[in-house]
Amino acid sequence: MGLEFDDAFIQAEEHRPKPYISEAGGIPVIDLSPIIAGDEESFSDLVAEVGSACKNWGFFQVINHGISGELLERIHAAAREFFDLPLEEKRRVRRGEDNPLGYYDAENTKNVRDWKEVFDFVTNESTELPATEEPGEKRTDVFCNQWPEYPPEFRDACKEYSTEVERLAYKLLELISLSLGLSAKRLSSFFKDDMNFIRLNHYPPCPEPQLALGVGRHKDGGALTILFQDEVGGLDVRRKSDGEWVRVKPIPNSFIINVGDIIQVWSNDAYESVEHRVSVNSERGRFSIPFFFNPAHYTNIKPIEELTSEENPARYEQYNWGQFFKARKNSNFKKLGKENVQIYHFKKALLAN
Ligand code: OGA
Ligand code: NI
Repeated sequence: MGLEFDDAFIQAEEHRPKPYISEAGGIPVIDLSPIIAGDEESFSDLVAEVGSACKNWGFFQVINHGISGELLERIHAAAREFFDLPLEEKRRVRRGEDNPLGYYDAENTKNVRDWKEVFDFVTNESTELPATEEPGEKRTDVFCNQWPEYPPEFRDACKEYSTEVERLAYKLLELISLSLGLSAKRLSSFFKDDMNFIRLNHYPPCPEPQLALGVGRHKDGGALTILFQDEVGGLDVRRKSDGEWVRVKPIPNSFIINVGDIIQVWSNDAYESVEHRVSVNSERGRFSIPFFFNPAHYTNIKPIEELTSEENPARYEQYNWGQFFKARKNSNFKKLGKENVQIYHFKKALLAN
């Protein structure tokens, strides 16, 4: 038994995907081999390339990133086998109101149901979150991963993948820091008690792909996302230059990187977090695996001091990341009938502007 189509999945007309979405003129592809080569000139070109991709697109693809095709195949296979299990088996590790980690097949984005099933885990085995969304909440709850019994190699594949993808995340963070004119390690300390999590996404074939979305349009709330996708395709990115949706062409053994809301705020809008969504199709199921690079829950997010000045004052009020995350999670879990939390809610009303 899989998902059954009903009205809850139907997007408002203006958000439905067009029947054809172009892959042409898409996001930049960046070769990361200069990181390993250790040649200074090609490294500074790489920093500049990352900087302009973040500024002009908010999205890019990376190749020669150092993660083996064999490991990608292992985690992809583990995801396929897990989602292939009977629903009762998957529901043994089901997410609930008391634990946001595990299997789930009824997520909403902006109050419309997504055509997908997911499995979430944190890279540290457990994570701490504020107990409520109340400002100044000091109490926290701790959540632990729920690992399925089948397939037996699932947990090892997930653990190995998370070690490798975290290493890549720190490298990308250094490149981004350098491209903003900061020192390479300037942003790393925010991730000391990180809240990194990985999601396995399965988008089954959908009988009404023109009415529904795999994930509705949204911006990622964390710092950075590193996404693996299979060869089916369906990720659409809002192109900054003209606001059109463009499809990201799958490149075998590559990753898609995007800047999330936290980097938008840290960089004081130099790099914007860009809207994206997932289109589905009636023939082929699709798998994707995003890694969300998130700082510790207690981190207060505000523009980095060195990136603001009298001429370029801070554009955001500080906000607490754990509470922002918790508010988002709750709204994805339940239909609230109102807009969920967005970073523009923390935007300052500037006099000039
Ligand atoms: C997400 C997301 C894209 C994809 O899970 O936040 O944007 O291709 N996923 O699955
Ligand atoms: Ni996303």
